[in-house]
Amino acid sequence: MLGSRSEAARFINVHIKNFERASDLARRAWEASCSGRIEETRKILEQLCSLRAKPWEGKSSRERWAHMAMQLPGDVGGGPHKKRIGAILSARYQGRILEAMCGFNSYLLPSPDREVIALDYCREALERYPYPERIRVAFDLDCLGQKGTLDFFGKVRFDAVMICFGYDYLKDPAATFGVLRKILAKEGKLALVENPLRGYPDIILRRFAPEEATKYLRRVGFKKVTVEDMGIRPYEEAQLGSFVLETTDSKDRFYLVEASSG
Ligand SMILES: C[S@@+](CC[C@H](N)C(=O)[O-])C[C@H]1O[C@@H](n2cnc3c(N)ncnc32)[C@H](O)[C@@H]1O
Repeated sequence: MLGSRSEAARFINVHIKNFERASDLARRAWEASCSGRIEETRKILEQLCSLRAKPWEGKSSRERWAHMAMQLPGDVGGGPHKKRIGAILSARYQGRILEAMCGFNSYLLPSPDREVIALDYCREALERYPYPERIRVAFDLDCLGQKGTLDFFGKVRFDAVMICFGYDYLKDPAATFGVLRKILAKEGKLALVENPLRGYPDIILRRFAPEEATKYLRRVGFKKVTVEDMGIRPYEEAQLGSFVLETTDSKDRFYLVEASSG
C-alpha cells in the first residue's frame, strides 16, 4: 500500500516526454492503493517505474548525449567559435559530404554545390539537427570493428567525411577511420576538427592529440595527412558577443586534420 501521495510521487521523476502518461499512472496507482487493490497497485507501479528517468551515473554514453540533446538551444554547444568553424568548413568542402557524429549542429551551410548527409548514434540529437531536409542516419560507428563496412550507403561515395569534436568519444578511432576511408571517393578527404582541451569529461575516452590522430590515419591507409591550426582563439570569441568563455588558456587551439589516400 502507498503510505501517502508523496510516496506515489516518488516514482514520477520522468522525462518530460513521458510526463502525461506518468501522471495518469500515478493517479491510478493512488486510487487503487486507497481502495486496497494491492495487486493492481503493484502492477501500475511497475509500469510507472519503467518510465522513471535514470540518474546521470546510470546512463550509457548514448543516453547522456540524448540528455544533452534535449536541453534548450544554447544550453550546450554553440558559441561563436562554432560559427567560425562553420564558415571555414563551408568554404572548403563541396560535393557530397557525410557529417558524421553531427550531434544537433551542422557546420555546413546549405549550398547548391553541396549535398550533406548527417550521421549520429543519438536519435534525439538527429531529431534536432538543423536541416530536416537532409538525410539523417542513426548509426553507431563503434559497432563496426576493423573489418566493418557501411553497406547501407551502397555505391555512394563521399567527397568528404567530416567529424567535428567526435574523436575523443570513439572506442577505436583507427578502426572507424579505416571504415570511413572505404566510403570516400578517389580524391575524397576525411576531415577532423578537434581541440585537445575540450570535451565532456565524463564521456570522453581520450583527449585529442594531433600526433596520435595522424598515426591512426596513416595506419589505415591515408597516405597524406595534414594538421592545421584553424587560427581560432578564445579572445576572438570574447569580441563576438556576450558569450562566457569556456577557457582563456592561451594553449586553446582548434585543429583541422585532413587525410586523403592520394
Ligand atoms: C561532442 S558531440 C559533437 C557534435 C557536433 N559534431 C558538434 O561539434 O557540435 C559528439 C557527438 O558524437 C556522437 N557520437 C558519440 N559516439 C558515437 C558513435 N559511436 N557513433 C555515432 N555517433 C557518436 C554523440 O551522439 C554526439 O552527438
